[in-house]
Amino acid sequence: MSVTKNEILIFLEREWQNEMSRRDTRLSNWKSPYEIKSYLDWLKQQKNARFFEIIDRKSGEIIAAGSLLDGSIKDIIVKFNERGKGYGKQLVEMILKEVKRRPMFLQAMPRYRGFYEKLGFEVYGYDKGTGSLFMKIEN
Ligand SMILES: CC(C)(COP(=O)(O)OP(=O)(O)OC[C@H]1O[C@@H](n2cnc3c(N)ncnc32)[C@H](O)[C@@H]1OP(=O)(O)O)[C@@H](O)C(=O)NCCC(=O)NCCS
Repeated sequence: MSVTKNEILIFLEREWQNEMSRRDTRLSNWKSPYEIKSYLDWLKQQKNARFFEIIDRKSGEIIAAGSLLDGSIKDIIVKFNERGKGYGKQLVEMILKEVKRRPMFLQAMPRYRGFYEKLGFEVYGYDKGTGSLFMKIEN
């Protein structure tokens, strides 16, 4: 079962827009649905951007997806009602296994620090404006 890059981008846009509507946007890098859309349009144009997904075997629908750009893992998101079932972990592990490049980086909201630490990432800095953490994994 496979999906196209466009299907992953549609999933990312929809799920991130839903996420933003649930969140306190002052704590986010993205302030509006428009910014999410223009960011994803930009990402789509990046030749070295790669996309990863987990598909529900029964329905064939995407459950979780994320991207990778120049050694940075980005946009990891699991469908709201599928969270806490191990899909996020599975997705990040899939990326780490498939892409051997190290160190790998990501930016995470503090509330997800524990999630990424369990996967082997460590904090090496933070963004004073948004409070998001810079994390990396060496091996
Ligand atoms: C972050 C996210 C991808 C995690 O996905 P998930 O499928 O719910 O997480 P998993 O079920 O795979 O959890 C894996 C492990 O991390 C732990 N974990 C999950 N969220 C956590 C959190 N916020 N803090 C600490 N630990 C966490 C789980 O308990 C689990 O531990 P275990 O392996 O010991 O059982 C998901 O919550 C999400 O999509 N959030 C919204 C989008 C987002 O903000 N993405 C991150 C951008 S930085």
